[in-house]
Amino acid sequence: MSKLHLGVLGSGSGSNMQSIVDAIEAGTLDADVRLVLADVADAKILDRAKRHNIPCRYLDCAPWKTKLEGPAEDRCIELLREAGVDTVVLAGFMRIVKPGLLAAFPMRVLNIHPALLPAFPGVHSWTQALDYGCKVAGVTVHFVDAGTDTGPIIVQKAVPVLEDDTPETLHARIQEQEHIAFPEALRLLAAGRCRVEGRRVRIAR
Ligand code: GAR
Repeated sequence: MSKLHLGVLGSGSGSNMQSIVDAIEAGTLDADVRLVLADVADAKILDRAKRHNIPCRYLDCAPWKTKLEGPAEDRCIELLREAGVDTVVLAGFMRIVKPGLLAAFPMRVLNIHPALLPAFPGVHSWTQALDYGCKVAGVTVHFVDAGTDTGPIIVQKAVPVLEDDTPETLHARIQEQEHIAFPEALRLLAAGRCRVEGRRVRIAR
């Protein structure tokens, strides 16, 4: 068992970060959130962090729009290290992270993706699942590797796709499971129960 010192990267509302903070405050996850970084200056995730007195700041990732690279990546690593972060959580961070961050935190970068990977990587995965005609959709928490949404899977949860679903109703159902899945994955990590063997994450009992 080892307490996790988390750094959270996000771009949007921060409901996943909220679920992690709630689990910590409820005493069900042995972790603290040392720093929250957002690549969007007015992202709600920053307001949520402030409400919980968690250090947070905007990270300017220009000139790139879809990746974290170059001086912004260097700055990100520096800030995370200064804050004493040992585990990086991508909680709705809408950029591709590059080898520099992954090398700074080897096998300690986790992402949440709103689909049952390997189906529907990329953006708006719930819409992709709906348009494809899937009867089941879901969420994946995985270690991040050099690919996009390709790293070893820690936790997955499925939800049904209902007849009258819209992208919004399906995403809301998936998000309910996200808020269970992310704390669950972090709990396994904190408990030292995840052993990565190639593509598979073995969960010790
Ligand atoms: C979540 O649905 C998350 O799975 C998704 O962004 C949303 C963020 O919500 N992430 C991705 O699509 C990453 N490719 P939140 O800001 O409320 O946590």
